[in-house]
Amino acid sequence: MEAQTKVIESSITFSNIQQLESQFLMQTYARNPVMFVRGKGSTLYDDRGKAYLDFIAGIGVNVLGYDHPRVRRVLKEQANLLHTSNLYYHQYQGLLAERLVKASGLARVFFCNTGAESVEGALKLARAWQRRQEREDKTEFVALVNSFHGRTMGALSVTAQEKYRKPFEPLISGVHFIDADLSENDFAEAREAINERTAAVIVETIQGESGVRPIDDRFLQVVRKACDRVNALLILDEVQCGLGRTGKIFAFENTSVKPDVLCVAKPLGLGVPLGAFIVAEKAVDGLKTGDHGSTFGGGPLACRLSLEFLEMLQEGQLMQRVTEVGNYFRKQLGKMQRRHPELIKEVRGLGLMVGAEMNFPCKSVATKMIEQGYLMNCTHDTVLRFLPPYIIKKSEISAMLTKLEEVIVGEARQFESRGGSS
Ligand SMILES: Cc1ncc(COP(=O)(O)O)c(C=O)c1O
Repeated sequence: MEAQTKVIESSITFSNIQQLESQFLMQTYARNPVMFVRGKGSTLYDDRGKAYLDFIAGIGVNVLGYDHPRVRRVLKEQANLLHTSNLYYHQYQGLLAERLVKASGLARVFFCNTGAESVEGALKLARAWQRRQEREDKTEFVALVNSFHGRTMGALSVTAQEKYRKPFEPLISGVHFIDADLSENDFAEAREAINERTAAVIVETIQGESGVRPIDDRFLQVVRKACDRVNALLILDEVQCGLGRTGKIFAFENTSVKPDVLCVAKPLGLGVPLGAFIVAEKAVDGLKTGDHGSTFGGGPLACRLSLEFLEMLQEGQLMQRVTEVGNYFRKQLGKMQRRHPELIKEVRGLGLMVGAEMNFPCKSVATKMIEQGYLMNCTHDTVLRFLPPYIIKKSEISAMLTKLEEVIVGEARQFESRGGSS
């Protein structure tokens, strides 16, 4: 065992790893040139010991930061049973399902591994449910302009953004994209698009990938009513915005609608892959024994970690923190926006899901911030997205924002000096 560890260690210098990856990995990721080796609290450390304050948390996954004592304890206690498959019972899936059902007010849970898989399962459920109700013609889906639901074929089919879809077409047919902007016109568009052929409508309660865009409650109400009118299911995708990110356990609790199917993933297993879709009573007979499955979904280690996480969410202090620290974060960013309205167009978000839309492409801002020891990303070309761990401190936010202001001003100047090209 020790010998093998030594073999691995001797080849893990950063330049070795970069060389190996460039030779042996499919080149699907444009990685930042940093290699992390450990973390503590909200800080990650690279192979040279340089510290980085984490404002992206593995894209919304590492909500308790790194090396959290409660995570460490569960990992140790559960080391003797990591996986069983779904051929057998283990002690934790039922307990976790009960917690998710009680927290959401829905009825039953299916466990999978990722966000895309939870969306995939929800879409399958919708079609199967309609068929079981003998509504054979109801096979279509309605999704939103600017949506992102994942990279598998079904999830990609309800993802609007052309750049993700194009190489893989034809995707599943009968998907209609509608605009969630707040003009009466669009409400009419939604009412018309959700019709007798619609199996389900899928909406991110707060759109993440397209730049942290909360969907207006009035629009959600129109969609909810239209779904009820034509017996379509309303699927809310809370893979990114759910599970405490907004200061509530589920983001839809900030709205006046309730979904028929709720997709969650990202932080659910605290870093061990775990996803789920949670289903309202009316649709639970959509999937019967043998209709859907997963080898890994809902394994003992992931479920045990998730139980610990939900326990913490329900204890309350963590959620209070997210609300309070999130308000502080957005307030400070708002002040920065008012100091530089020509550079920062808008600050959006809820809790610790925060977006700052720039008036210029922001990739170079994120890159410069990484060099300065702060992790964040630029999404939808112009939006700086922040998904920090729920344990982030106000002092850490404040330190990051001081540096960010300097970097934004510098990068905007550079952008201008290039004549407005990135
Ligand atoms: C709203 C939403 N849905 C689905 C997904 C896909 O999740 P995964 O990458 O775990 O498949 C993502 C990923 O970012 C997401 O933000």
